[in-house]
Amino acid sequence: MTQKPIKIEPSILSADFGHLADEAKRLEQAGADAIHIDVMDGHFVPNLTLGPRAVSAINRATTIPLDVHLMIYNPFDFIEPFIEAGADCITFHFEATEDVEDTLAYIRRCGIRAGLSFRPETSFSMIYKFLTLCDQVLLMTVNPGFGGQEFLSKMLEKIRLTREFCDKNGIRQGGVVLPKKPGSNLPPYDIKVDGGINLETARLCVEAGANILVSGNYLFSQKDLKIAIESLRNCL
Ligand code: DX5
Ligand code: ZN
Repeated sequence: MTQKPIKIEPSILSADFGHLADEAKRLEQAGADAIHIDVMDGHFVPNLTLGPRAVSAINRATTIPLDVHLMIYNPFDFIEPFIEAGADCITFHFEATEDVEDTLAYIRRCGIRAGLSFRPETSFSMIYKFLTLCDQVLLMTVNPGFGGQEFLSKMLEKIRLTREFCDKNGIRQGGVVLPKKPGSNLPPYDIKVDGGINLETARLCVEAGANILVSGNYLFSQKDLKIAIESLRNCL
């Protein structure tokens, strides 16, 4: 299996919402690779969170990339507002729209990274055909909607299948398909996991092939955020 450096993306859902800008700065200083911002509409998932204005406030407070995870129906309609707010990557749910391909293509045309996310019940057979159309897949390891849930270990198989498929078919970073020749150094495809990630589940996910770890409850409950991010990064 091809490995690459592990990236840590703390979920701001577990931060202090009274001080979002300060929390964003704290994450940057603690060594986060990006900030994960969960956007929920109360329909696709039974919870409501943040909109573009909050993303914009976070953007003004930090220089690290913002990855907006849309858990909303009709994601296409919200691409522009979130890009204007400062999103560096927009990830939406396969299950939330009929226009997956158009939505991915539009995000990319706007010049930022596009991600596609899959609920736990969606099988690998629906995933592989989109890998080359986006920059990353986000495999949910809990049912989307809330932080602090327990990791679903059944998802490890999906992570494994996705990494194996990418490696076997030469799908590398950005969904680029390499011709079958040795020696290329384009990094492996980005496979992100989200939900119930702590030191133990992080290790299982990385062993299965994930290279970007989203973590909310675990990271924010640790005394020292910097040490917590570092230990998650070195979970193997
Ligand atoms: C859940 C969200 C996650 C959540 C992860 O719907 O997509 O990003 O914040 O939080 P933890 O790590 O607490 O499961
Ligand atoms: Zn998320």
